[in-house]
Amino acid sequence: MTRPTSATSSADAPLVSVRDLTKHYGGGRGFLGASKFAVKAIDGISFDIAPGETLGLVGESGSGKSTTGRVVLQLESPTGGDVLFRGQSLVGLSPRQLKPFRREMQVVFQDPYAALNPRMTVGDFVAEPLIVHKLAKGSERADRTAELFRRVGLDPAFMKRYPHEFSGGQRQRVNIARAVAMEPSFIVADEPITALDVSIQAQIVNLFQDLQESLGIAYLFVAHDLSMVRYLCHRVAVMLRGRIVEMAPTEAIFTDARHPYTRALLSAIPVPDPDIEANRRHLAYDVDANPPAPDAALREVGPDHFLLA
Ligand SMILES: Nc1ncnc2c1ncn2[C@@H]1O[C@H](COP(=O)(O)OP(=O)(O)OP(=O)(O)O)[C@@H](O)[C@H]1O
Ligand SMILES: [Mg+2]
Repeated sequence: MTRPTSATSSADAPLVSVRDLTKHYGGGRGFLGASKFAVKAIDGISFDIAPGETLGLVGESGSGKSTTGRVVLQLESPTGGDVLFRGQSLVGLSPRQLKPFRREMQVVFQDPYAALNPRMTVGDFVAEPLIVHKLAKGSERADRTAELFRRVGLDPAFMKRYPHEFSGGQRQRVNIARAVAMEPSFIVADEPITALDVSIQAQIVNLFQDLQESLGIAYLFVAHDLSMVRYLCHRVAVMLRGRIVEMAPTEAIFTDARHPYTRALLSAIPVPDPDIEANRRHLAYDVDANPPAPDAALREVGPDHFLLA
């Protein structure tokens, strides 16, 4: 149930490179010039994603995962550091300069209903990027939209329906169809299965995997827990308080975790065997007592295995 580790960071030139990225909220001068406390949502992180690779991003609530996704996509500007796409820096580009990159970089969010427009048929919603980017019109657009529906496992006969007529899993398929309409090479998937029934989650994960195999899409896959990550991701980065504390090929994370926080996350994954589950020890990690040290840096402790120390 584990993925082959064919796509690794060193095999190809990176598609996405993140360098010393920071994103601070607030701060600056407040009332009567008093300095305000800044939230360091991202506090100096670096990673690469190869073409066709999935990098999992896991960590507790508030660790900076979603902020990382938004800044990588340039939906927000970083406070410092750089984001490169095919070697070109995206930071500081104008909306017009970003437009060709916007086609290649898409996003799928956690709540499939919030992303949809309730007053738009799902067919129009999926086709909208084709209109905005002038990619197809008339019957060609309708054919292309029907093809996208089939590709994500939806009957094209549903194209004329509205979002409220669909289940959560079907709505997420609609969002995924819209994201792949632009034939992107990179998708940020921010907890795309968290809001779905457990019985549906594996189907959507399989869909992401099928699309990767057929279209060569790279993913930054944000997740709370590690169980689906093991199945889908080639490598995993573990975030804590805006820092990456460990990053390694998926198997190394699961069999050779070095950071106590990674071990604590792993110990929280339920085991299907009730006898083992009943006797299992859940490891705790007190972040307030052991926050990442400001001067710590990622060091290689094994092949492609990095630990903040
Ligand atoms: N627009 C904002 N303004 C101020 N603070 C923000 C903003 N967005 C995020 N933050 C703060 O930045 C930190 C990181 O938030 P982020 O949403 O990236 O975490 P997350 O890892 O995605 O959490 P979750 O698992 O709950 O989705 C949090 O402390 C959050 O409160
Ligand atoms: Mg989030």
